[in-house]
Amino acid sequence: MKVSATDLVGLPGQVTPPAFVLEEYAAGQLPAGALVALAVLPGEDVTDGPVLGPGGAELSDALGVDLLEVLALHRATGAVGEVTLHALPGGGAVLLTGLGEARARDFRDAGAAIARAAKDRSRVHVGLAALADDTALRALVEGLSLGSFEFHWRSGGATAQPVGEVVLATDPGRQPVVDRAATIALAGWRSRALATTPSNLKNPAWLARQAELWARESGLEIEVLDEVQLRDGGFGGLIAVGQASATPPRLIRLTYTPPKAKRRTPHLVLVGKGITFDSGGLSIKPAESMVTMKRDMTGGAVVLATMAALAAVDCPIRVTGLVAAAENAVSGSSYRPGDVITHYGGRTTEVTNTDAEGRLVLADALAYAAAELKPDALVDVATLTGAAKVALGLKTGALFATDDVLATRITEAGETAGERLWRLPLADAYEERLSSKIADSDNAAGGPGAITAALFLQHFTDGLPWAHLDVAPVGDTTADDGVWTTGPSGFGARLLLHWLEQADPLEGIPS
Ligand code: BES
Ligand code: MN
Ligand code: ZN
Repeated sequence: MKVSATDLVGLPGQVTPPAFVLEEYAAGQLPAGALVALAVLPGEDVTDGPVLGPGGAELSDALGVDLLEVLALHRATGAVGEVTLHALPGGGAVLLTGLGEARARDFRDAGAAIARAAKDRSRVHVGLAALADDTALRALVEGLSLGSFEFHWRSGGATAQPVGEVVLATDPGRQPVVDRAATIALAGWRSRALATTPSNLKNPAWLARQAELWARESGLEIEVLDEVQLRDGGFGGLIAVGQASATPPRLIRLTYTPPKAKRRTPHLVLVGKGITFDSGGLSIKPAESMVTMKRDMTGGAVVLATMAALAAVDCPIRVTGLVAAAENAVSGSSYRPGDVITHYGGRTTEVTNTDAEGRLVLADALAYAAAELKPDALVDVATLTGAAKVALGLKTGALFATDDVLATRITEAGETAGERLWRLPLADAYEERLSSKIADSDNAAGGPGAITAALFLQHFTDGLPWAHLDVAPVGDTTADDGVWTTGPSGFGARLLLHWLEQADPLEGIPS
């Protein structure tokens, strides 16, 4: 069977995002049976009804249907996310698609809404593209792609198929803009799919195997350290957290070198939390809190999917990706509250809660990166704390950074990607809470939990410019919401790529 870009090791064939075709068509001349998405904009003031976007009048004439009347009948307002389906004889239909204020992010949400309405159709013509500048067109394509997301492990195949082809009503010369957006959307799709994969398949070795396939396909170097190498190498955090599991830990290392790399080309290390399932360990989680913990490797998924897309977005700097993969399980060989761990590089931690495992595996990877790779900057991504969810709610990720330029770059990339972050302080006032009576620090220092977790990690960064993304708040969603589909979100890959595609991502960051 043919392997597609969205297939995963050991799972039945997965659906793929739609193909994108660019064509300046006349809405009035579309073939009978066509599915066409037409923009609807709110009227200038509240007393007006909504108005039709480009091609609306022509289409009304050609169909002999007063589409404004259709809108009025459905009480459509033109708000973003609104899709009014008007079926036509012969199998065709018009998707009257609210575009709200027509900001780039509105195009993203409108694209996702169209993708949902167009499932199981072979083709959709998207008139909204005619209204979009390049930023909006990219957002539209991201929405059309990610709104099509499906994951399945069913004997009979996926229950719904993404629309096969999207015809964007715009100049074919814009194909490179669309291709770039589709690449970044695929990275979001892949990290979401990895995070959705059940943990009876997704163990650390499986994650490494998937990484090997993507590395080969995208020309990355890869090295995987197994549990023996990790023990010999002094990775005490990964060993402790992973030692109860029947599937031992791995450290996955991917290397991207840009085609024109010189000796002084800047070097970034991305580190991902790869807990393939978080039971909490002996400090076991209550059943309800454990249900979503297959996605506790979201940070690792983000790093893998981002690395695999760097060449396609022409990333100009060297990037190393590290995924600290382990299952936090319960067994006779579990690590215990009270244990003291020696991390890579020698720093020690007293474990007071085995459910604060993410920081233990990240500590090894950060210390390894700082000591052995000596990068110009370090960025980690992790579903690290429930406290970040309490602080920020479920739509915004937490960002911590030691450098203001780095923080600004990443925050702005998040805005562009529609993956929003809010910066929290590395407040040294709470540093003393990390103290342990017998070790260098305590792994569960108490509140404020997102901040003390970040402060714990900072000790392993050797003073390098560092950003930490606590994506626990945005790890999943209980309902379809814009480009998010019910379940894990894969949050972070798109924002990293919107940053790393820039001409000089580390410009102005002291090294
Ligand atoms: N994986 C969890 C964090 C998490 C919680 C992510 C909810 C997404 C949703 C992490 O390993 C964890 O359990 N953290 C503990 C730390 C505490 C024991 C210090 C937490 O946040 O409760
Ligand atoms: Mn935990
Ligand atoms: Zn965890």
